[in-house]
Amino acid sequence: MPFQDVAQDESRAPTPATVHVPVLPAEVLAWLAPLPGGRFVDGTLGGAGHTALLLEATAPDGRVLAIDADALALARARARLAGAIAAGRLLVRQGNFARMAELARAADIAPVDGVLLDLGLSSDQLADRERGFSFAADAPLDMRFDPGHGASAAELVNTLEEAALADLLWRYGEERRSRAIARRLVEARRRVPLTRTGEVARLVAGVIHGRPGGIHPATRTFQALRIAVNDELASLEAALPAALEILRSGGRLAVISFHSLEDRLVKRFFQAEERGCVCPPEVPVCACGRSPRLRILTRHPLTAGTDEVAANPRARSAKLRVAERT
Ligand SMILES: C[S@@+](CC[C@H](N)C(=O)[O-])C[C@H]1O[C@@H](n2cnc3c(N)ncnc32)[C@H](O)[C@@H]1O
Repeated sequence: MPFQDVAQDESRAPTPATVHVPVLPAEVLAWLAPLPGGRFVDGTLGGAGHTALLLEATAPDGRVLAIDADALALARARARLAGAIAAGRLLVRQGNFARMAELARAADIAPVDGVLLDLGLSSDQLADRERGFSFAADAPLDMRFDPGHGASAAELVNTLEEAALADLLWRYGEERRSRAIARRLVEARRRVPLTRTGEVARLVAGVIHGRPGGIHPATRTFQALRIAVNDELASLEAALPAALEILRSGGRLAVISFHSLEDRLVKRFFQAEERGCVCPPEVPVCACGRSPRLRILTRHPLTAGTDEVAANPRARSAKLRVAERT
């Protein structure tokens, strides 16, 4: 993903203010424990809610490098946090957070006191109909965090073999009716390419008959397509070791995930890095020479309380895990 200075793009229409409400704000601050002068990487800038909190807590001279794949998120943050940018306290960069080590070195901010990843998509992206993330509005079937990079959801849906499409829905959406949905989508695209979210949502609803009051039948299909389009699990898998590269000893890594695939990945990474040694149990003396790089601070993930969920329903499935660099 290329660097791009969106502030220089004068042709861009003014960006609406963020509607995203950061999840678990108090917990993130309590566990990342930012102090004045601290240096942090926020790998998922989004609506800049967490970034703003980190800037506040590290005032007067702390620094934050905030990354997002989405140029519109960057444009919003540049408008909202112009003062911090002008003061040299906030650097915003477009890119995949998997490249955070490279970006942090280029920004001369590493080693850092903390790294935050608040995964998935923002409410701003969901609310922007034209992005195609929501089955609630008929829009182009896109779903890319960075529309300038990679294949859109329409390209996947129209080109993948039926079996590969079913596999994708099963793997990333844990969709039990993956085969039937893939069959229906492939039948439909033979007549005319699928280009709209509304068509996909309707086709899925024709296969799965949702229960009244239950989730929309296309929820898992849309989740799966979004994860695949943005290669979300591979990015996370690459980002976790990258975070360890730039954390100082005693620095903290906080990850907020929204579904079990992400949470499992984070949990296993933390456990493996706390163990260090990767020798099989039958090897009597360690031969790999690897030592622990993390100490887990949250044995069980932290979740939002009822008040937060009532105020911000998005927080319902958020899970925060935190570990400290040895
Ligand atoms: C849940 S939002 C973050 C919200 C933010 N913490 C706040 O308080 O406003 C997730 C953001 O991460 C971005 N994102 C997701 N995966 C990414 C990746 N691999 N690289 C860079 N940005 C990514 C999305 O574009 C989205 O803006």
